[in-house]
Amino acid sequence: MGRFKDKTVLITGASSGIGRALALDFAKEGAKVVVTARRKERLTQLAEEIESLGQSALAISCDVTSDEDLAQAVKQTNDAFGAIDVTIANAGFGVVGHAEQLTIDDYKRQFETNTYGVIRTYQATIQDLKQTRGRFVLVGSVAGYVCFPGTTPYAMSKAAVISFAQGIYHECRPHGVSVTLISPGFVDSEIRKVDNDGTYDETRKDTASAWLTMPTDVASRKIVRAIYKRKREAIITGHGKFLQSLSRHFPRITNWLISKAPDQTGHEGTEGPSPHSHNS
Ligand SMILES: NC(=O)c1ccc[n+]([C@@H]2O[C@H](COP(=O)([O-])OP(=O)(O)OC[C@H]3O[C@@H](n4cnc5c(N)ncnc54)[C@H](OP(=O)(O)O)[C@@H]3O)[C@@H](O)[C@H]2O)c1
Repeated sequence: MGRFKDKTVLITGASSGIGRALALDFAKEGAKVVVTARRKERLTQLAEEIESLGQSALAISCDVTSDEDLAQAVKQTNDAFGAIDVTIANAGFGVVGHAEQLTIDDYKRQFETNTYGVIRTYQATIQDLKQTRGRFVLVGSVAGYVCFPGTTPYAMSKAAVISFAQGIYHECRPHGVSVTLISPGFVDSEIRKVDNDGTYDETRKDTASAWLTMPTDVASRKIVRAIYKRKREAIITGHGKFLQSLSRHFPRITNWLISKAPDQTGHEGTEGPSPHSHNS
């Protein structure tokens, strides 16, 4: 389609899931794509896949918890493709567990990637985006609006991303740079197989309901459209839109719903009797 023909797009967390799908879709839209993450071998394969589509790609090892890695990624991008037109701060993972059992270090680790990683990505690329009157994209989550038991580190880190997006939207506006917040619900990816240290573990069970989970390519196409239209926010998935709206307009019903949901640590809801307590 060529909606991003010859534009330079840098994506963090492109070695799997949403970031990987976005890299392929932006290539199909004519962009020069810079794929970054920690697992370099996966990125190299992805770059080869993009080149086989006839597009330019660059694979750069970059941990978003490192200022130096991001500075280096931007320098290499500039040397290869010039200034960045679109930055997608997508890298993220989820720390799960009940707050009383987690440590402050668990929360810090979560924020280092999901929140400070987004801020670092913004600070490393904003000068380029001002030059190109480009687009800055943050991948948050519906979890930033609604926190389920067992997910406080993740939900808090994403709530902070929502606030950051709101603030920088106005800071960027005078410079012609758009800010788009992407808030996904369940999307097919590896995120639920990554442990609390941020390491992929293929033996872990994906806890998301299959019927609620949106295929990655469908989500990616919706995200590309939102970025193209410079939308302020796009909530990806029907259940995500429903939950976000419910929490805003009907907080008591939302609270009841949360009390009935199983938590991420495998326990039943936090309020009301569990099936086990009926039997005891
Ligand atoms: N899938 C969902 O249901 C869902 C829902 C709401 C929001 N999201 C958000 O969508 C984004 C993408 O996640 P996904 O679902 O596609 O999960 P995923 O398949 O696990 O992909 C996460 C990506 O982030 C990268 N990453 C993790 N830590 C990193 C770090 N310190 N530095 C650089 N890259 C890092 C991973 O690559 P390496 O391990 O190679 O570094 C991987 O490429 C995340 O921000 C996530 O919170 C996802």
